[in-house]
Amino acid sequence: MKDRSAAPGKDEKMKKAETCLPKKGRSHKEILNELRGFGKNDPDYKKSRTWSLVYYLGEGHTRFLQQAYNYYFSANGLNPTVFQSLKRMESEVVRITANLHHGDRQVAGVMTSGGTESCLLAVKTYRDMAREQKKIKKPEMVLPTTAHVAWEKGAKYFGVKAVHAPLDKSLRVDIKAVKKLINKNTVMILGSAPEYPHGMIDPIEELGEIAKDKNIPLHVDACLGGYLLPFAEMLGYPVPAWDYRVEGVTSISADTHKYGFSAKGASTVTYRSIEILKYQLYVYENWPGGIFASPALLGTRPGGAYAAAWAALQSIGENGYRKLTKTIIETAEKLKAGIEAIPELEVLGKPMGSVFAYRSKSREVNIYAVGDQMEKLGWQIDRLQFPEALHAMVTPLHAGIVKQYLKDLRQTVRMVKGKPELSEKGAAAMYGLIANIPLRGMVRKNVLKMFAEMYGPDAKMIDPTTTSLSSDEGGGDKPDFATRMAMAYLRVKNRFRKQD
Ligand SMILES: Cc1ncc(COP(=O)(O)O)c(C=O)c1O
Repeated sequence: MKDRSAAPGKDEKMKKAETCLPKKGRSHKEILNELRGFGKNDPDYKKSRTWSLVYYLGEGHTRFLQQAYNYYFSANGLNPTVFQSLKRMESEVVRITANLHHGDRQVAGVMTSGGTESCLLAVKTYRDMAREQKKIKKPEMVLPTTAHVAWEKGAKYFGVKAVHAPLDKSLRVDIKAVKKLINKNTVMILGSAPEYPHGMIDPIEELGEIAKDKNIPLHVDACLGGYLLPFAEMLGYPVPAWDYRVEGVTSISADTHKYGFSAKGASTVTYRSIEILKYQLYVYENWPGGIFASPALLGTRPGGAYAAAWAALQSIGENGYRKLTKTIIETAEKLKAGIEAIPELEVLGKPMGSVFAYRSKSREVNIYAVGDQMEKLGWQIDRLQFPEALHAMVTPLHAGIVKQYLKDLRQTVRMVKGKPELSEKGAAAMYGLIANIPLRGMVRKNVLKMFAEMYGPDAKMIDPTTTSLSSDEGGGDKPDFATRMAMAYLRVKNRFRKQD
């Protein structure tokens, strides 16, 4: 047994310093310095090198949001009758949002901690509404395959079966398929405006007709487009109908912390009327701690995030959002045109807004290898699967890097074409395997294992791009048997892959 009384070695001492609560509190200066240092390997979003996760408008805007956040840093929106300041901000953000989405005075909603909470709440709301009004005991919801994973999570958390509708050729949800998938247990239908993977807006008008005809709620997930599409329409871009002007639409989620350019931790979910929202509210009257009522998923709700969201809307204003939207769309258009001009690449579908994906149409260019090489040049790009593609969420800051990005992309495509072995190395091999292995259970098992290691006692930092897909049978840096088999499968598949 380990001798616990023995003096700790140097390594152990180091570890203790990092993971034990210090006996004596440390100086603010030292802590803040250390905190800054932690970020040295984080993505360089201030130089527009990232294509997801951060919506940065520069230091001036950030400092302003920080100030607004700080005023309400300790305020708690748990009980909306206590911090009336927060209730006021929440009501105003919701009202502004409902107006932007052409809702009338009957539209009611709440602020949440982010897109996922907004989506989860809609699932719970429609499940409970159907349970009470239609006595549905085995709820189902029809989701386009491109619905954000928050909806899959909602399905699991709230016991609603997710039924997936495929896409049509334009990469929008196939309306005929949606019609076929609806049955007596369907509690809601979903459309996205736009969806995350390709940036396409689902045919909300057609979905609305189905929803009305069948008397089933239709939620529009506008977490991405909620603060972009209204301004795109004002600017004269051809935005298809997607909001409360479509009769069948019963609710909308929209994130202020994305294209609303507020601080992280703020989104909205609104419903066509309070009669629907009331199924979201939670009340427990028998708790010894008092009568508990809560409008959303969280208990404590962070006041700072609400204040920053309110402040962002007030400071940017309609003209500001129009300007930002114009820059975003023009930048996305330039990027898409530049990518389409590279003979080996193509943009997926015809997305009109800020989000798009592109893939390789040449057998000689592995798109994941392109991603790897772009990363070596300092770009941080998300990978998609089904089909394999790279992703971009454009923000105004990207206006300054269009030329450089396209130059790097052209150079990278040439390089990957000349070095086919790159597709069997590093992240390209890893993502290629993940996207192609027909045994999805194996992928799931390995990702869960990776997470268990990250959140287990050793709190390992894992780089998925250098981790063996299955370390059960060997593991480490060398590919194990399952990985080798999968790579062989992939090589054969690539050889026979049809290309246009
Ligand atoms: C369409 C859509 N819905 C929901 C979400 C989830 O939002 P969040 O990451 O804020 O939880 C996202 C995130 O990108 C999204 O694109």
